[in-house]
Amino acid sequence: LNARERLLSFGAGPARWPEEVVERAAAGLRPAAAGGLSVLELSHRSETYGRIQERVREQLRRLLAVPDSHEVLLLPGGATMQFALVPLNLRRGDEPVDIVLTGRWSEKAAEHAAATGPVRVAASGREDGYRAVPPTDAWRTGADAAYLHVTTNNTIAGTRLADVPETLPAPLVGDASSEILACPLPVERFGLLYAGAQKCLGPAGLAVVIVRRDLLDRAPESVPAMLRYRSHAEARSLFNTPPTALVWLMGLMLGWIEEQGGAAEMHRRTRERARIVYEALDAHPDVYAPVADPRCRSLTNVVFLLRDPEGEERFLAAAEREGMVGLRGHRSVGGLRASMYTGMPVEGAVRLAEFLERFARDPGGAGGR
Ligand SMILES: Cc1ncc(COP(=O)(O)O)c(C=O)c1O
Repeated sequence: LNARERLLSFGAGPARWPEEVVERAAAGLRPAAAGGLSVLELSHRSETYGRIQERVREQLRRLLAVPDSHEVLLLPGGATMQFALVPLNLRRGDEPVDIVLTGRWSEKAAEHAAATGPVRVAASGREDGYRAVPPTDAWRTGADAAYLHVTTNNTIAGTRLADVPETLPAPLVGDASSEILACPLPVERFGLLYAGAQKCLGPAGLAVVIVRRDLLDRAPESVPAMLRYRSHAEARSLFNTPPTALVWLMGLMLGWIEEQGGAAEMHRRTRERARIVYEALDAHPDVYAPVADPRCRSLTNVVFLLRDPEGEERFLAAAEREGMVGLRGHRSVGGLRASMYTGMPVEGAVRLAEFLERFARDPGGAGGR
């Protein structure tokens, strides 16, 4: 494909993959790459696949600086599956689950937790339209809670929890789907940290769950084995047939991230991309209105409105003519959103910023070149 045909996706996920990884995936599917069988045909009990999967778990451990106290699980079903599994596994009896409401995804986490027991709102940003993440000193939680759940980055509202508390009376559970590995996260402060993979780690339909080992014993016998983290931990994420192709694809993505300089380089690029795009928006307050409270801005999901909402379709069409897609905001917020995760080159942010600049100078016109 030439540069014109290869579109640059700012979609919230599945998100943009680096060119090299797409090429490697295409080549790696061929039987010769895995000794006569396509990687798609490998038994999950084979040595070759076992090595692939163990390598992915080690890569995650290294890249995310996972302490020995925590287990790394690869589970099918994305992040939503964890909305259901976390309360089933961590709640003892009718313990309440405390939730910090920071956006639509945390509401969904709360709804899923409420299906199997009591839920308390520890703090809520809802009244303010989720423009800010409630400050940690305002969280109301107690030792009687099974855990406290927080979404570390809010994909839809475009906000981020900048300071993860060091200690809390109950284990901290975090949904880091839209910033894992793109942004620094103190994994050791979480009892459990999870992420759907399709934004920062590669393929959709797979979740990474990092869980403190002592929490694995909490699930009651009434929870079927397949739904217990403990089963998957004991089987090294081979409890049943795992999504082998997705795990392999994640390994390609993580290998590329390591080659690029690992977590530190990903964090640097994330800060750089966010700086470039927010600066372009802030330079034209008469045209653009970034939604998040400046103290809580997401570094991966830049959500903004046009002062003149009528210009949105023109904006999107002009961006698409320049090969940039996926900029439409989430249906619940409207407006526009640029999602930039690990697979987005810094040049992608530069291209977008240049476009924002041109559009701002001529918002009524075509906006593009
Ligand atoms: C923060 C957050 N949590 C959960 C989800 C749901 O993920 P999945 O569709 O993989 O279940 C998303 C998806 O966009 C998300 O952004």
